[in-house]
Amino acid sequence: MQTRFGATLNANDTPMSADTLAHAMTEYDVLCPTVGDPLPAGVLDVPGRRVRLIANYGVGVDHIDLDACRRLGIAVTNTPGVLTEATADLAITLMLMAMRRAGEGERELRAGEWTGWRPTHLVGTAPQGKVLGLIGWGRIARAMARKAHDAFGMEILFHARRPMTPEAGDPPAVQAASLDALLGAADVVSLHVPGGADTRHLIDAAALARMKQGAFLINTARGSVVDHAALAGALRSGHLGGAGLDVFPAEPAIPEGLADAPGAVLLPHLGSATRETREAMGRKALANVAAWLAGQDLPDRVA
Ligand code: DGY
Repeated sequence: MQTRFGATLNANDTPMSADTLAHAMTEYDVLCPTVGDPLPAGVLDVPGRRVRLIANYGVGVDHIDLDACRRLGIAVTNTPGVLTEATADLAITLMLMAMRRAGEGERELRAGEWTGWRPTHLVGTAPQGKVLGLIGWGRIARAMARKAHDAFGMEILFHARRPMTPEAGDPPAVQAASLDALLGAADVVSLHVPGGADTRHLIDAAALARMKQGAFLINTARGSVVDHAALAGALRSGHLGGAGLDVFPAEPAIPEGLADAPGAVLLPHLGSATRETREAMGRKALANVAAWLAGQDLPDRVA
């Protein structure tokens, strides 16, 4: 982007402040933010605004006020498709870490507290034959379902708001009659819905109470989907067997009570963090900028 478009880079790779972003809105024609750069209406709608394309480096766009963009005539693009496998792989990683208590084991060993092999030590849960319930049935959910079915013989249940027909490559899967039906039947619940007002605290205390005793919750979607105070309570009471979380509501802050909650595996938003995926995301953002500059249709337009 620097070579082709003379881009100014965020050279130290830290999230930009609201002031910096608001200033950037007046300085550039195109902005390429990430999930760590919130763009509410107040930052977008600044006097002297110049930006007309926001080419987001990432697929989720809940950090951008899309209504404000539409109102202000700012086009928005994202990077769908290229982070599917990496994010699904990480969801599987979290599922296995939570079920097999790998986080607890690593912490114990590093703390010098391992006393040696014993029959009852950190006994976890096998994934084989268990029911994986996916909330949302987009690309990442389907990829996770395929991996879980093919590798571990898991049964696949999913919840989506409209009736879904199987696509090529999908594993055998059953669409749950309702969210509650899925929550009551799954041994592992994995979240794959977008963030934003519509899904805020979809997994609240009532939803957690509907989950099976000893079940696991996996979240690689957005932190806002889960009520973390309720989740910490469900882990502490022993109602849930564990939780694997890669995303949090106000990153990089970790919600209170989670870090020491039993069975919690916490990762710092690594879903798309492979060299291959991050390069592919960059190529997608670049293609969107190039199309915009050439006056062509935007390949990945979301607003
Ligand atoms: C996304 O793309 O939305 C991820 O959360 C960051 O890669």
